[in-house]
Amino acid sequence: MQEQCAACHGPEKQKGKLQLIPLAKAFPADRRDRWSIIPGDPEASTVIQRVTLPPDHYDIMPPKGDVLTGEQVDLLRRWISEGAPHAGATASVPSEARAAEPSPVSSPQARIDIDPADLEAGLQAIRGRGGVIAPRHVGSSWYELTVSFARPPWTDGDLALLEPLRPVLWSLDLGNSGVTDAGMPLVAGCSQLRELKLDRTRVGSRGVESCAGLVHLETLNLHSTAVNDAALPSIRDLPALQAVYLWDTGVSKQAAEGLRTNRPGLHVECGVTAVEFESGSDRG
Ligand code: HEC
Repeated sequence: MQEQCAACHGPEKQKGKLQLIPLAKAFPADRRDRWSIIPGDPEASTVIQRVTLPPDHYDIMPPKGDVLTGEQVDLLRRWISEGAPHAGATASVPSEARAAEPSPVSSPQARIDIDPADLEAGLQAIRGRGGVIAPRHVGSSWYELTVSFARPPWTDGDLALLEPLRPVLWSLDLGNSGVTDAGMPLVAGCSQLRELKLDRTRVGSRGVESCAGLVHLETLNLHSTAVNDAALPSIRDLPALQAVYLWDTGVSKQAAEGLRTNRPGLHVECGVTAVEFESGSDRG
């Protein structure tokens, strides 16, 4: 989508009033009826409908240039089938707040002596292992890494590849990978992280405890993991945290309530029930 859709549905232009980049913008909380991506239902998603039209159809997306390859469409379908995981919380953060992106150089915690050759080698190694890594936006010195689609899935051993990226990694998506608690100290070494997704992994409360040093972390996705109430003190103490996703975990309702009371500004998402989800995705 960054390559094929961003020019018209990105931060600069929103053709058809649709913004897809950054991804969270595709899910405005107050306009569920207008979502063009229906989590879990690719065929009901207008994004899929529009990219699978016959190439000469008037409504095909993108309207000019190459149509999406079968592989790209499959990837989109798979992501939507898996619930279209995205940093949903960032959608509700006012744009002024997000505009205040520090540069790695001005950030006191960042090591500024990152050698461009080391960085390039690090990026290549990650790509060679199926990771999708790119700057946050054109010209940004910060990087976003997704390994959810790597096959075979990443395991704790692969996390050593993060080493050279530590000072510049902004967002790390380990969702649906084979990482466990044992790998979390390596993740915690990426001290600049703002977003961390561990959903659908075997990570548990001990792994979350290891992440205590992530003092800039704003979004933590733990849905469908092994975490339970024991993780909540560590979550509570993450100083910059704005949103945590805990559905389909061992965290009890009472403990989640307690966290909300302790950290009033924190968005604690314990999931929508099946009924809410159904009615939310009814486009009437
Ligand atoms: C060259 C500009 C351009 C590019 C590139 C582009 N679009 Fe669009 N898109 C438009 C315009 C203009 C509209 C509004 C007119 C329409 O609905 O056809 C639109 C509308 C849409 C809509 C309907 C929005 C709604 O809710 O009514 C969807 C979905 C969509 N685009 C998806 C995509 C996807 C996915 C990509 C990338 C694969 C893409 N577009 C790339 C120009 C573009």
